[in-house]
Amino acid sequence: MKYATAIAALMLAACNAAPVAVAPEEVPTSPAVTEAAKTFATLSGEKPIIIAHRGASGLYPEHTILAYETAIAQGADFIEPDLVMTKDGVLITRHDPYLSDTTNVADHPEFADRKKKRTTPMGEMEDWWADDFTLAEIKTLKARQQFPARTMEFNDQLDIVTFDEIMDVALKAAAEGKTVGLHIEAKWPSYYASVGLDMVDPIISALKAKGIEEAGIPIFIQCFEPPFLEAFSKKSDLPTIQNMVGPPYNKMLGLEYDLETMPTTGVGAEKSFILNEDGTTTDFVDRAHARGLLVHVYTVRDDQPLKGYANAEAELNALIKAGADGIWVDYPETGVAVRDAN
Ligand code: G3P
Ligand code: CA
Repeated sequence: MKYATAIAALMLAACNAAPVAVAPEEVPTSPAVTEAAKTFATLSGEKPIIIAHRGASGLYPEHTILAYETAIAQGADFIEPDLVMTKDGVLITRHDPYLSDTTNVADHPEFADRKKKRTTPMGEMEDWWADDFTLAEIKTLKARQQFPARTMEFNDQLDIVTFDEIMDVALKAAAEGKTVGLHIEAKWPSYYASVGLDMVDPIISALKAKGIEEAGIPIFIQCFEPPFLEAFSKKSDLPTIQNMVGPPYNKMLGLEYDLETMPTTGVGAEKSFILNEDGTTTDFVDRAHARGLLVHVYTVRDDQPLKGYANAEAELNALIKAGADGIWVDYPETGVAVRDAN
């Protein structure tokens, strides 16, 4: 599990956090279960949503059309584009602002001199950075699986895709009668703003240009940086999710999250906030629900169960029992199956 992006973003931004009242027009629920009886411990009583984390990223290189379309075919309620920006200001889907972990950029000799050291909140890092590339250059790269234990069979075949292209995937699904939501994460927005690449307006404009809301596609906007969500909420009524760095990293970084004053629609909680290593659960979800906050939980992975849990199914069942409103999963088929069996 990489916390680099989250940690970096929060270290840049946490000091500037200021509560702001948020009154979203509508909070999306699972498109498939609006008729559900109130038998779940979620805030609404409806089934929790299954969020395909970077698409069906356990099976295919993350943030690719194949990964997203597979997630939809497997019944995910939401797909999750992580967004970074190119030099020419285009929103693309990558988990990190650097490219070496999930693309074949290192095999492109024409980009060898783009490898640069940057001072980040985690220290100095040398890599290829998305905002040093135009979209046309990014489009010459191919995606790779970043987890060594997963199949490399699909490496170097699939394109790096734009936010527009991911929205087209959701629109196509909607046109075919299968509504899937967009759970959109802005990565490193304070960094991009510092180099003149604000992310708030491009995201809002892109959603409007594609007519996502008009198409009835549910949306959440998530980020680890409170100031980004505050700025976003001044320009949009879309529901916002404050992502939270999990224990023990939150304490190591001095990050405090106060559910009582959390100004967002909900929180994106690392699963260790809820799941104890002895198999019990905390009261985190109850406390968040008491404040009216949704709790979306990241990330359940079939191939990386948490200590104290036999497998992903056990984690999912524990999270559902605890009342999680949404769960990010790398293997949507598993998430949907367990959710629907509850
Ligand atoms: O966005 C929340 C969830 O996706 C976990 O964060 O680091 O995998 O984007 P990350
Ligand atoms: Ca994410």
